[in-house]
Formats: sequence, C-alpha cells, structure tokens
Amino acid sequence: MQPKVAIRREHGDKAQDAVALSRRLGLPLIDASHADGPALTLEFHRGRLTLCDHREHRARPVFVDIEVAIRRYPSLPAPKRGPLAQAIGRRTRSIIDATAGWGQDLGLLVAMGYRVTAVERSPVMAMLLEDGFSRLAVNSEFCGPFEPPRLVVADAVHYLSDLHAPPDCVYLDPMFPPKRKQSALTRRRLRLLREVVGDDEDRLRLFASALRTATKRVVVKRPDEAPPIADHPDETYAGKLVRYDVYMHGYRE
Ligand SMILES: C[S@@+](CC[C@H](N)C(=O)[O-])C[C@H]1O[C@@H](n2cnc3c(N)ncnc32)[C@H](O)[C@@H]1O
Repeated sequence: MQPKVAIRREHGDKAQDAVALSRRLGLPLIDASHADGPALTLEFHRGRLTLCDHREHRARPVFVDIEVAIRRYPSLPAPKRGPLAQAIGRRTRSIIDATAGWGQDLGLLVAMGYRVTAVERSPVMAMLLEDGFSRLAVNSEFCGPFEPPRLVVADAVHYLSDLHAPPDCVYLDPMFPPKRKQSALTRRRLRLLREVVGDDEDRLRLFASALRTATKRVVVKRPDEAPPIADHPDETYAGKLVRYDVYMHGYRE
C-alpha cells in the first residue's frame, strides 16, 4: 500500500534533516521537483516541520504551535478558569494528555501551569509534536514558570497500564468529525489529522485504561451534541462547541 505521507526535501540547510526524518519514520523521500507522490508531505518551512496538503494550492502548511496557546495570556501561569479548568479540577497537578494530536489542548494545559505528559501513537504526529516541543524549549520567554511538557511516542492504552507514577488526571480527546462552526484552520487541522491517523476505533479501550490509571479523574472532550463516551459522567462542563465529561476515580458505569 502506498504510504499516505512522504518527506519532501527542499534545497537548503534542512535537506539533511529531511533525509534523517525519512529514515527515522521509514517514509519515502521525494524532491521538491517531484511532480507526483502522496498528497501529504512533511516538509521544513522557515525552520519548522510542517504538514502540507498538495491538493490545496493556496493553503498554508500546518505545524504544531504550542506557543499560540501560551501567548493568549498576558501573564503566566494563566488563570485556571473556564470549562476546561473546571473539568480538570482544583486539586489536579499532573496530567497525561493521552491523545496529544496537534498539541492545542496541551498548550492550554501547560499555560495553566499543570505538569503535562503528552502521549501520541502516530509517528507522523509525534514528529510534528517533537518539533513543536523543541521550539518551546529554546524559547525561554515561554519556559519561565513551567515544567516543560514531556512527549511519549506510544499507544496510550499500553503506556497507561505500565505506569509506575500515575497522574492525577488523564485527558482524552478522541477523534470526532470537524464542525462547521469551528475556524477554518481548526477544521483543516482535524481533516488532515483524520487522513494521517484514521479513526480512534479503540477509544473505549483507552477510556478503560485511563479510568484504571488516573488517581483523581478522567476528562473526556466531546462535541457538544455527541453522546458521552460512557453513560452518566460524574460532572459535565460545557464550552462553546465542545463539552468536557468528567469521570471520577472509582467511576462505575
Ligand atoms: C482529536 S486528536 C487530539 C487533538 C488534541 N487534543 C489537540 O488539541 O490538538 C486525537 C489524537 O489522539 C491520538 N490517539 C488516539 N488514540 C491514541 C492512543 N491509544 N494512544 C496514543 N495516541 C492516540 C490520535 O493519533 C490523534 O493524533
């Protein structure tokens, strides 16, 4: 089967990085002049690793931008306000974001000062995250009061079940269809993500593993109109387009 994503090499100082990336991910390397190949490519643009869709000529490449969440706040740590913070709970200190994806929720959690470990099983998404994390690490303006997030490339179902130091909270955001009301960039990110990783068909196994692991709570992000992942969450906090369902330690369906 033809791989969905290739690594595209431009001339310049990142050409060798593209070769290394292709070896690391076991994905084909194509030159910028190459006319046909997978529609999706990983490429370096302005020093950032990006995912490009060559079917959309005018679309900008997409990359993991954790700083954007952090920059929203005039001072850090950001206040623990709003439905996400309410769902995470006042006594939570450590969080495993078991479905890291584009790292957007992760950025908010880091900005609010939680100790966050991100888990992602797609090697392509993990590379994009690693690149985003490396920018966070060199930019001291953002590192100030935080413990930088940690990235684990693994299937979270297994990772959670082997943990020696369980977190207070496991955060889950399984795939769901993009909504029309979301911004164009968010919809594009979700569409590309779905093409790269497919559907999270094992989300119930992940939920069960999260419930066994979190010492205080599991938080599941859902589209506002979708049913909960498991009946009768202990608490629910509604945002504009999504809600956060909370399952406390000891939850039984
Ligand atoms: C909807 S996205 C999460 C988006 C993320 N919350 C954000 O703010 O950008 C779901 C992601 O979880 C990952 N994922 C799903 N199940 C997983 C598992 N069992 N272990 C690790 N990653 C998983 C998928 O590969 C995908 O990248």
